[in-house]
Amino acid sequence: MKNRIESKEWQRLVRHQSTMATQHMRDWFRQDTGRTARFSLQANEISLDYSRNRITEETISLLCDLAYAFDLPKKIQALFTGEQVNFTENRPALHTALRHPQGSELASIASLITQSQSKLRDCVEKIHTQKWLGVSGKPIEHVVNIGIGGSHLGPMMTTHALKDFAQGHLQIHYISSIDDSQINEVLQKIAPETTLFIVSSKSFSTLETLTNARTIAAWMKEKLGSDVLHQHFIAITAATEKALEFGIAREHIFPMWDWVGGRYSIWSAIGLPLMLLIGNQHFADFLQGAHEMDCHFRHQALEKNIPVLLALLSIWYMNFFDANVQAIVPYAYRLRYLIPYLQQADMESNGKQINSYGQKINYASGPVLFGGEGSVGQHAYHQLLHQGQHFIPVDFIMSMEAETNLRKEHQDILRASCLSQAQALMQGKTYEEAYQELLSANYSPQEAAKLASHQIISGNKPSNILFLQRITPKNLGALLAMYEHKIFVQSVIWDINPFDQWGVELGKQLLPNILRKKESV
Ligand code: F6P
Repeated sequence: MKNRIESKEWQRLVRHQSTMATQHMRDWFRQDTGRTARFSLQANEISLDYSRNRITEETISLLCDLAYAFDLPKKIQALFTGEQVNFTENRPALHTALRHPQGSELASIASLITQSQSKLRDCVEKIHTQKWLGVSGKPIEHVVNIGIGGSHLGPMMTTHALKDFAQGHLQIHYISSIDDSQINEVLQKIAPETTLFIVSSKSFSTLETLTNARTIAAWMKEKLGSDVLHQHFIAITAATEKALEFGIAREHIFPMWDWVGGRYSIWSAIGLPLMLLIGNQHFADFLQGAHEMDCHFRHQALEKNIPVLLALLSIWYMNFFDANVQAIVPYAYRLRYLIPYLQQADMESNGKQINSYGQKINYASGPVLFGGEGSVGQHAYHQLLHQGQHFIPVDFIMSMEAETNLRKEHQDILRASCLSQAQALMQGKTYEEAYQELLSANYSPQEAAKLASHQIISGNKPSNILFLQRITPKNLGALLAMYEHKIFVQSVIWDINPFDQWGVELGKQLLPNILRKKESV
């Protein structure tokens, strides 16, 4: 095994960093008007401007050398061709198969996927055409997803993101918290006779989800009688027997498989709330967008590959600039729940410290991700991004075109805000600039000299801007697939398994004992 840090590729980057650390991006932009064009990439309707990074062409070349040294191209093929990339659980991670137009190139799973997709489409059709009736003969108007983690965050985030593409009349609600304040809130918004509950749980053994599902089932039985489960409950799970035991009808159980991780499952039946909201055609577009990003990731040269570059830039800052915190800042209200989704995707995947040889790694892995909707955050925590002591690279996300029902004035301000935040992080403000501004604002030279130092903004803070042509099902699919692949690339360089989550399991293991002790107090 090549030790990551001792490799010549890593050491070259260490040396390169020491020359780069003293240079300011502001100077590069001044000297080179073609910088933005040279550091931009496009994949269908997503483009990446990565010019505001502490990089030169040499940096990219050295980072790609690192990726080649640790066999990234081979590892990408291994992901798509069903090798056991989840090496602690001895299984493949085949979420990419779920968005393959033919239901995977792997014959062993293709028909499982297409059968499940066809059953899901029938279900959506039946509910949309009001042929799925509740026990009292009324059509479905409300859908409540009961799930947590990957069985909640994907559906929740995407149904908010794609609200403008809603087909029909359904209202979608979510119950994920074990704090039943949430149940109480949701129950006030729905009518039992017209509500369908989706119990989403790959394992069908997650305590929060099962407790919530049991509470809801009891409530529904009390309202509509003991036969209510058949018409009002669907399960999405890899544990069919457990769902049957719960009382859910076999024909209303949709499959999951152990080769799809929870946080990579929005493309599977777990995406049913999204399918119900936007309809079958839009959901097909969502899968298509992700598939196109898969093709870009699989076939594009590393130097021109968006997920690869995003991953390498993140590694550049984490492992060579000690920037362990990174921010995701969409300038889009519709993408406001992207952050919790990506926190699970990234932090549950790469929050690891043991490599594929069972040894503890001696470099940072898995950034701490935070962020939020940009136009709100810039009046709150962005202060720390600009003047705090931390060095926090940012991914800004914005759409170039807006929906027709949106106001030009608002959308113009939104986009300009995003661009000006990226610009401010890059260029900063010098003492001299602050001093001159204060003099122009009629401060005395003494006052200006005193205040100017507080207004210095060092700048030189990196950011990427991801431009989506529009927030459409297709482009959202591509954006999510892009981040999945970014996470995978990082795991390859760090030599960790991004597809297990033993850390989370410990809490689950301890909980029953502590609960029993608490009950006996
Ligand atoms: O506890 C973490 C986790 O295991 C996630 O990985 C998963 O997405 C979530 O719980 C829910 O699991 P399930 O779908 O099996 O209920």
